[in-house]
Amino acid sequence: MPCGAPLLDVAAGTGRLARYLQQHHYRVVAVDYSWPMLACARAAQSAPLVQADAFALPFASGVFAGVAALRFAFHWRDLAPLLTELRRVAAPGAPLVLDTYVWTPRARIALGARRWGGKIFTHHPMAVRAQAARLGLAVEAAVPCFLCSPYVYRRLPLRATQLLERLETAVPPTWLARVFWRFRRCEG
Ligand SMILES: C[S@@+](CC[C@H](N)C(=O)[O-])C[C@H]1O[C@@H](n2cnc3c(N)ncnc32)[C@H](O)[C@@H]1O
Repeated sequence: MPCGAPLLDVAAGTGRLARYLQQHHYRVVAVDYSWPMLACARAAQSAPLVQADAFALPFASGVFAGVAALRFAFHWRDLAPLLTELRRVAAPGAPLVLDTYVWTPRARIALGARRWGGKIFTHHPMAVRAQAARLGLAVEAAVPCFLCSPYVYRRLPLRATQLLERLETAVPPTWLARVFWRFRRCEG
């Protein structure tokens, strides 16, 4: 891995992850397609911001010590193009972090998808694992969470959210809606 290499936050939105990583003394580069999102990110943190397409990143191969793309992968039916591009810019051995939905009513509601942040696709965890293996990504962690949409959690009083979080540990993990993945780019 390149010495002192930065992390890459892909589809960074308002830069909340980049900000968090900076606060923890990591070097970060944030990328988003949208100028308005980048403007919000600029107001909130000081990481270098790049306007670019996540599927054609303007970086050399293998230069980032870690790559994250949160709340983004589930907008794409086929994960292969995204995983391929994230893997390309990650240094050999670097972690890649992203999240997918196993189920969500939002995957079935075409009407209103625009208002609620765009179309959502679900991905069976076994299919994600198989895809990752084909692309030279080892699965290091797959953490299921959320009994229902995280947007519901956000709107509930804290006590109710805490109750849901306790319930998450009591039900079979396959019932949970979302999976957070940590892959590692295999050498080569
Ligand atoms: C739901 S937001 C997630 C933002 C951030 N990762 C977070 O978790 O708060 C999705 C972001 O993806 C960006 N986006 C959509 N298509 C993109 C693309 N092809 N390349 C880069 N960014 C893209 C949007 O502009 C938006 O900021």
